[in-house]
Amino acid sequence: KKPPVRVAITGAAGQIGYSLIFRIASGEMLGPNQPVILHLIDLPFAMAALNGVVMEIQDCAFPLVKGIVATDNQAVGFKNVDYALLVGAKPRGPGMERGDLLKDNGKIFTETGKHINEHASRDIKVVVVGNPCNTNCLILANQIKDIPKENFTAMTRLDHNRAQHQLADKLGVHTTDIRRIAIFGNHSPTMVPYIDQMTAKNHKATVDQQWVSQTFIPTVQQRGAEIIKARKLSSAASAGNAAMNHITTWVNGTAEGDFTSMAIPSDGSYGVPKGLIFSFPVSVKNGKYSIVQGLPISPFYQGLLDKTIKELVDERNAVDHLLK
Ligand code: NAI
Repeated sequence: KKPPVRVAITGAAGQIGYSLIFRIASGEMLGPNQPVILHLIDLPFAMAALNGVVMEIQDCAFPLVKGIVATDNQAVGFKNVDYALLVGAKPRGPGMERGDLLKDNGKIFTETGKHINEHASRDIKVVVVGNPCNTNCLILANQIKDIPKENFTAMTRLDHNRAQHQLADKLGVHTTDIRRIAIFGNHSPTMVPYIDQMTAKNHKATVDQQWVSQTFIPTVQQRGAEIIKARKLSSAASAGNAAMNHITTWVNGTAEGDFTSMAIPSDGSYGVPKGLIFSFPVSVKNGKYSIVQGLPISPFYQGLLDKTIKELVDERNAVDHLLK
């Protein structure tokens, strides 16, 4: 077996944490030969609940768990960490404006960025899950001086997986038969599920445009809200699953000819302003992702891209004071 790696999870006492931590501990994210030391981080008020989670991890007697650090101190929490899943964030309360949400979370992710820059492994791979995840990641990465910027990403894999399911259902195939689709843009209702290059069972697959624009895209964009309505709680197991998928694909790569979706620092591809944390189709090899270039963008998709770009530029402007 390999030496253990350190995996940090913030918001570890929350509902996504509760579904995510046990699956990481069982080896689902990094494989059955990779022992882990879990770094579970939450706020001071949540330490009692977090202690309950720790007891439950102990009671699973996981062969791969070589240690647990449970803390409200980020300097301790991020010490030598190799992977970080940043789930903890301030949720939007009743009557709260999006601008206030951005500001409150801006403070959190500024702090976290400082601690990661100071204490984490120089090779750390980070995925931001806590919303608004693209802009939280932008604020975080801005604090980083000594670690490559491309190691800081945000999660749109849940949207990707949701799209895959809708398409498989429509075409009467299994989800794993659907390839070459991607989410562009923000993890928000402006996200753009792109399917013009889709294959099903390795053959080009098309669906009618009216279904795409009137049913498919709104369903994927509104799926989170639909789950809140049904469960009275936001999606947690599927979000945790997607966060693990994000890291697993980043480590193990994408299949030849296929791609996935990750929100990453834009290099200007597809006309997206440089530096925005934007979801692109990416292929991954040897632990490095690259943006899939040259996908044809129809006027229909260009219109949608323009909207999600504008939204992310507006979010960036709203937190401009945190980016100095
Ligand atoms: P939750 O409220 O059950 O848990 C959040 C936990 O984070 C709480 O235990 C809280 O104490 C903790 N926390 C808050 N601020 C923190 C900080 N500064 N440091 C450490 N811990 C902190 O929420 P849940 O359902 O687990 O969701 C977490 C986040 O994930 C939310 O922001 C939600 O919007 C987001 N999310 C993102 C998705 C995506 O696709 N990117 C999908 C679903 C949820």
